Amino acid sequence: MEEILNEFNQELLTANSLISLEDLRIKYLGKKSLISSELKRLPGLSGQEKAELGKSLNHAKISIQQALSIKKDEVESSLKFDPIDISKPGKSLYEQAVIGHMHPSNLVLQETYRVFTELGFAIVDSPEIEDDWHNFEALNMPEIHPAREMQDTFYIKDTNKKLLPRTHTSAMQVRFMKENKPPFKVLLSGKAFRNENEDATHSWSFGQIEGIVVGDGVSVTDMKGTLAQIVRKQLGDDVQIRYRASYFPYTEPSVEVDAKFNGKWLELGGAGMIHPNVLNNGGIDPENYSGFAFGWGVERIAVIKYGINDLRQLWRPKLDYLEQF
Ligand code: FA5
Repeated sequence: MEEILNEFNQELLTANSLISLEDLRIKYLGKKSLISSELKRLPGLSGQEKAELGKSLNHAKISIQQALSIKKDEVESSLKFDPIDISKPGKSLYEQAVIGHMHPSNLVLQETYRVFTELGFAIVDSPEIEDDWHNFEALNMPEIHPAREMQDTFYIKDTNKKLLPRTHTSAMQVRFMKENKPPFKVLLSGKAFRNENEDATHSWSFGQIEGIVVGDGVSVTDMKGTLAQIVRKQLGDDVQIRYRASYFPYTEPSVEVDAKFNGKWLELGGAGMIHPNVLNNGGIDPENYSGFAFGWGVERIAVIKYGINDLRQLWRPKLDYLEQF
């Protein structure tokens, strides 16, 4: 019996489920077990022998029963979990999930699209990977032109097509002109990429919006009026606007547009009357049509609008910062 008890105790150590405990009970106490068949032998035995075997069988049986019962309690309590009240009403999506919200740059874009569509502009899509011709050459910037320096960028290696991540959304100007007849007023937006020394107002990748307006007799006055309307709709009716003379190879004359916000003059972007060479490259006769174009940084508008002190904050994965907007 001692041997049987030892064997049982060994097996009990690894029996960690209700099923394996039941298997053990059958093996050691079931009808076909050694203990049961020995118990059946008892009636045929003589007094002394019967008493001794009976005592040791009983002892073994009780020990096994007790050990199984203790282990069963242990296994059962490890399986306990809070009961689910299936009669309770379910939780709505709003209670379960943290609902996110628009990124400040996208808030600016959403507002921009609203303002421009109200003014009759169509919103068009544009590629982020461009060829050298559309990004530079078609905009009066041949390979040796110093203006390329202002937009130093990354280049894609090993392509005959001279592909690059575009340095400005202006790369779409000629692409759009080649496929559309004037008059048109379009807005395109997307990312631009430059090899920048990053600081509070410059990042290596940033959003730009670009407006292109071409038609019969479009003048500088139209440009000034349109830009003033747009800026006021975006930043408020009392915002002052000023134009500073500037230089872009693809517009003539060219200006920088500033807005006075919270007492400070801030640069929004560049603008100008589209250069005749650019219209020609787009298949539009500059004798018959004229137009203006402008390009602004999306993050710069977000910075002005929300009083952000460093535009790089917008692209850092800091939710507690972004959740403020
Ligand atoms: C241009 O990119 C011209 N293509 C704009 C233009 C369009 C002129 C059409 C004439 C006609 P500029 O490099 O200044 O110009 O960039 C325009 C705006 O993009 C800047 O005023 C600024 O708001 C934003 N921007 C430029 N570089 C960065 C940068 N590294 N990080 C964040 N925003 C930038």
